[in-house]
Amino acid sequence: MNILLIGSGGREHALAWKLAQSPSCTKLFAAPGNPGIAQEAELIDLNAGDHAAVVGFCSAHNVELVVIGPEAPLVAGLGNDLRAAGIAVFGPDKTPAQLEGSKGFTKDLCARADIPTGGYVRTATLADATAALDNFTAPFVLKADGLAAGKGVVIAPTREEAEAALADMFGGQFGEAGAEVVIEEFLDGEEASFFALTDGKTVLPFGTAQDHKRVGEGDTGPNTGGMGAYSPAPVLTEELQACVMRDIVQPTVDTLREEGTPYSGVLYAGLMLTAGGPKLIEYNARFGDPECQVLMMRLEEDLAALMLACAGGTLGEWSEAKFSDQTALTVVMAAKGYPGTPEKGGVIDLGSAEADGAKVFHAGTRLDGDQLVANGGRVLNVTAMGGSATGAKDAAYQAVDAISFESGFCRRDIGWREVERET
Ligand code: AMP
Ligand code: GLY
Repeated sequence: MNILLIGSGGREHALAWKLAQSPSCTKLFAAPGNPGIAQEAELIDLNAGDHAAVVGFCSAHNVELVVIGPEAPLVAGLGNDLRAAGIAVFGPDKTPAQLEGSKGFTKDLCARADIPTGGYVRTATLADATAALDNFTAPFVLKADGLAAGKGVVIAPTREEAEAALADMFGGQFGEAGAEVVIEEFLDGEEASFFALTDGKTVLPFGTAQDHKRVGEGDTGPNTGGMGAYSPAPVLTEELQACVMRDIVQPTVDTLREEGTPYSGVLYAGLMLTAGGPKLIEYNARFGDPECQVLMMRLEEDLAALMLACAGGTLGEWSEAKFSDQTALTVVMAAKGYPGTPEKGGVIDLGSAEADGAKVFHAGTRLDGDQLVANGGRVLNVTAMGGSATGAKDAAYQAVDAISFESGFCRRDIGWREVERET
């Protein structure tokens, strides 16, 4: 079948790389793509916000499956318009995508379905929010309700800081996303991510990962979209995964189906492993970036066939999705300045980075003539496999060291938790 992939980051490069290897993929298009994706797919100049244009392209080119990488087109309802035109889509419709699009939507669903998560209050005015702080203790967790590119969460150590942050949020710091604010109980523990594929009914576990959100070594400094990740995450034992499936993911999928808004695609559960068991921090309606890169390195299945089964309601025919037992680890090379204003245009030479089986996924790159240059905050995702987290880390940094990218930087300690546990 012909497939159209929507997106342009490292996540989409990893998806394109895996889709291009799928026996069931005949021709892969990507819009808008990037220079890495161009090695796997034909790039199309198509605006994902123009749903009629996307539908028109699919009809004209016999596209049978559209894979939507990022959250914004999902929340905007691109899936609805494609499905209405009879085109299969990997990714949820607009309403179930509210699992990512609205923190309050997810919290209310957890309350209805008795899913373990932190206690919370939804507030729509600064006065209500400030008063609601009385019901919580420090540190205070404040979340802009809507999509805020991963920046909408504030953890305030004191009441004064919480009140100041609320004033900023209701003052328009996050635009429309901050029109409502969720105040949440602080959860203590180690974070881990659990992925599942679903067609709205069947739920198939799809791997675990841990990422590093802070820009600095030792998990310090400002939050980013993620500076590196590894999979699997052994802290999510088989037993804990079974518990997450039973108590969190399956009830979410069942509730949405029973309420007439079935969810299909990938469900990414951000979890806190608390002393009282795993609790949901948040859902994403798409793969993590860079978690997707490590999942795709390990996946031993026909990705296109799995995605079509999610879109077509036949996931029940799959008993499991097979992954390599090896560990995959990805190091993000970012442009200096990230997560503030990244330097653009820095020259990149990948050298022999891929010589020993590592894979360099392009996140924010551009071709300037024949020269690869930086074109974003997160620029490259240098990904490798190993028999342990330590082995994968060594292989990934060996590849990093083969790359010349003077205006770039990376953390040198990706995977440290797992590496420490292994020694
Ligand atoms: P989110 O965008 O919801 O993933 O939140 C960003 C980060 O804030 C998470 O990865 C956690 O590290 C932290 N966080 C969010 N909610 C909580 C919570 N209720 N308790 C503790 N930390 C949280
Ligand atoms: N790496 C975190 C995310 O994709 O949301």
